[in-house]
Parts: sequence; structure tokens; C-alpha cells
Amino acid sequence: MAETIPLLHGATIPRLGFGTSPMDDATTETAVATAIEAGYRLVDTAENYANERGVGRGIKASGVPREQLFVTTKFNKRWHGVELAAQALERSIDRLGLDYVDLLLIHWPNPRQDRYVQAWEGLVQLLEQGRVRAIGTSNFKPTHLDRIIEATGVVPDVNQIQLSPSVTRTAARAYHAERGIVTESWSPLGGGGADELRHPIVTELAERYGRTPAQIVLRWHVELGLVAIPKSANPDRIRQNIDIFDFSLAPEDVAAISALDRGESAAVDSDVFGH
Ligand code: A2P
Repeated sequence: MAETIPLLHGATIPRLGFGTSPMDDATTETAVATAIEAGYRLVDTAENYANERGVGRGIKASGVPREQLFVTTKFNKRWHGVELAAQALERSIDRLGLDYVDLLLIHWPNPRQDRYVQAWEGLVQLLEQGRVRAIGTSNFKPTHLDRIIEATGVVPDVNQIQLSPSVTRTAARAYHAERGIVTESWSPLGGGGADELRHPIVTELAERYGRTPAQIVLRWHVELGLVAIPKSANPDRIRQNIDIFDFSLAPEDVAAISALDRGESAAVDSDVFGH
């Protein structure tokens, strides 16, 4: 089971969770049940992944009580508005077949549409009404976060961003740390293709620690105080990815992995991309 981190608005989030993109409903159902049986307590989905039904079915199949789980979902840009955000939540809850979600995120800022401040006001209302335990953003840059915090005075519990050894997001992490925002890493292994798992620095560390490259990279996220949500459809890899809480990396090895950073330009640009 993963250790947890306290969030600004009172909830606690596991340090490692299960990512579900890209997987269809049927694959998701099996994978989520396997993950929960393996000890995962955080499951991450989104309207856009079109697999919230699979997530809900996997949760039911696992037999683990709902209150022991931390479920995150996210909504698309068409729901950027105060009332619209509430509707997005209702629809997600309906697809998930659950009574509530723990953490609701604005999936992308979509600054060209310029309605993410209203979406954030909607999330703040949902938090105040007790309809979610925690609220946050995904793919927000410090400039986007500045605007929503200024408009509402409410700081997100979490900002979920693309983050892996080749995209370490130093400036974003520093901004979050200053404000108590937990950084959650999407594509923590570098995504499909996962070149970073074949990097000589990572494979050499894997050999030295007697771990797999994925375990080394996921432990690196933990050492940096991040929440990582690796996706896998493979039962062995699902189990392997959470088996990282019985060892630690030496500071110089954490630094060696961080040095693989290719800079901010290697990340998807959320001023341009979004849905
Ligand atoms: P698979 O689903 O076949 O396991 P990310 O979470 O960074 O987006 O990366 C997910 C990718 O990494 C998927 O392609 C997944 O494939 C693969 N993956 C997940 N866990 C491992 C692991 N322990 N070792 C190697 N590849 C992995």
C-alpha cells in the first residue's frame, strides 16, 4: 500500500495511484480490479478517457469499500463554467456508478477559450458544498494558477502535470511547493514507448538496487515528494509498480535521474493543446 500526503483542504492522497489512459472500459475494469487487489487506493480517470464506467466496475469487482479509495476524475473544456462544472461532476458520478469522487480536476486550461477561472469558481463551490473532498487542476502553468488563485483566494489541492525523468518541470514544482499544492505526475514513466526506462542511467541503477527500471523511476517521483499515477494493463507490471515503498534512492542517484531533464520544451504546451 502507498504512503499518503495531506492535502490543503483536509483530504489525504496516496503517493502512488493507478493511471488509466489509454485503456477502454473492458480493459480498465480488469486492470482497476487487479490494481486495487495489489494495494492501489488511488484511481485516476477522466471524462476524456471514456473509461469511467470501467473504473466504476473495477472498483465494485475489487470488493474494497469505497471509502478506502481515492477516485480522481477530470472534465473537458465544454464544462468550463460555474454551473457547468457541477453538471460535469454529476455526469462523471453517474458514469462511475459511485456516490462521489474524491478529487475533481479541470483537465486542461484551454486559455484560448478563457473560461478556466469560471470553471475554478465552480470547483470552489463544489468543495464548499461538500460534494467533493478535494479540487485541483491539470496541465495548469504558474500563470494559469496565478489567475485562479487571485480570482478566488482558493489554492488547488493538486496540479496534475506531465512529469518524468526527461520532463522534470522544475519551475512548476517550485511554484507548487511554495503554495502547498501537491504535484501529481502524469505519464510518470514517460508514456507509451517509455524511452526513459531504457536510459543507461536508469538501467544501471535498476541493476545496482536490484529493482526494475520502472520501480527506480517511480521511486524517484516519491523521493521528490510527487504523486505518480503509472498506467499499465499488465498484471505483473501493475503489481511491480506499487512495490516501491520498501527501499529508497540515495540523493546522488535522485540527482542523476533528474539530470535527464530535456527542459520545458519537451512537455506538451498547455497554452496550445487542450480538450
Ligand atoms: P503496459 O500497459 O503494457 O504495461 P505512463 O504511465 O508513464 O504513461 O506509462 C505507461 C506506459 O509504460 C505504458 O505503455 C505501459 O505499458 C508501460 N509500463 C507500465 N508499467 C511498466 C513497467 N513496470 N515496465 C515497463 N513498462 C511499463
